[in-house]
Amino acid sequence: MIRTAIAVLALLTPVLAKSPRSESALASNPVYQRDCAKCHGKTAEGRFMAGPSLASDKVVNASDDELRDIITHGHHRMPKFEGKLSPEDINKLVFQIKSRTK
Ligand code: HEC
Repeated sequence: MIRTAIAVLALLTPVLAKSPRSESALASNPVYQRDCAKCHGKTAEGRFMAGPSLASDKVVNASDDELRDIITHGHHRMPKFEGKLSPEDINKLVFQIKSRTK
């Protein structure tokens, strides 16, 4: 468990060094702006009639695995990103969504 946490931190260090760990990390991720912002909004607070807020209780309470699954395989009107984004890109989005909602 601790080893996993260290491995994850090591992976994310370059990401954290480049972008502030604040709630703007997700919004300043170019992958998010390109692939997600049109539905979830530029600041991830959701858009009317489109994607839901990514700072909702549901997202806060979802596990990393659940979020990764939704982004990878899609859910209802949420498109799947398997094959479009690398697992690293998806992990980064999950991490940024989680750090934003804490
Ligand atoms: C075409 C519009 C669209 C795009 C593009 C899109 N989403 Fe979604 N997303 C949705 C909709 C609609 C839902 C709600 C799905 C449902 O009904 O369960 C959703 C749900 C989600 C959820 C679960 C939140 C919840 O409350 O159920 C996450 C997390 C999420 N999207 C992340 C992302 C990420 C990260 C990206 C970019 C890689 C992205 N989405 C791109 C429309 C979109």
